[in-house]
Amino acid sequence: MTEFETEPQGILTPHLLKAIVSQYSLPWRGTHGLPHWARVLDNGLRIAGDTGADPIVVTLFAVFHDACRFNEGWDRGHGRRGADLAAALRGDVYVLDDMRFDLLYYACVHHTDGMTDGDPTVRSCWDADRLDLGRVRITPDPRRMATDYAARPEVIAWAEKRSRGGYVPPVTDIWEKWAGDDAGDEAGAGAAD
Ligand SMILES: [Fe+2]
Ligand SMILES: [Fe+2]
Repeated sequence: MTEFETEPQGILTPHLLKAIVSQYSLPWRGTHGLPHWARVLDNGLRIAGDTGADPIVVTLFAVFHDACRFNEGWDRGHGRRGADLAAALRGDVYVLDDMRFDLLYYACVHHTDGMTDGDPTVRSCWDADRLDLGRVRITPDPRRMATDYAARPEVIAWAEKRSRGGYVPPVTDIWEKWAGDDAGDEAGAGAAD
């Protein structure tokens, strides 16, 4: 399977990305940092090509779902905090209709609940995240996938190779540039405002 590179999604502007990253309190290239967000984005857009998931929601999920973690381990409530950040920034640094926002919010809140039912866009978001489990040495389980596409052995193998290998999608560098000059700081890029 060939490499898959993310197509630019207009919704994710430098202004929006910077607003998200500037409040992220963990290392930008840590377990749940920007390379993970970028792989989730690649995974999600790839899944969307099969499921018909909304690429705008998939894109926003990638950058919001882990954006408000307090730690790299079990972090109860981080999905809801990410969803609430999406709500707080909506209408200020990005615009999204109610239908898409409801899908995004739900997907973020429940992304660690192990659910496999629901709207195809939401299910695609969840599987995009699950396909990146290789980075913590977990092989994604096809029986726990919410879409038939992400449960395919060749899709899991493709994603796991990138995840375990620490593949950093090129868009990561672009995001760090957008986010400011303090990219790569161990402590992240400053406190929330
Ligand atoms: Fe998460
Ligand atoms: Fe995640």
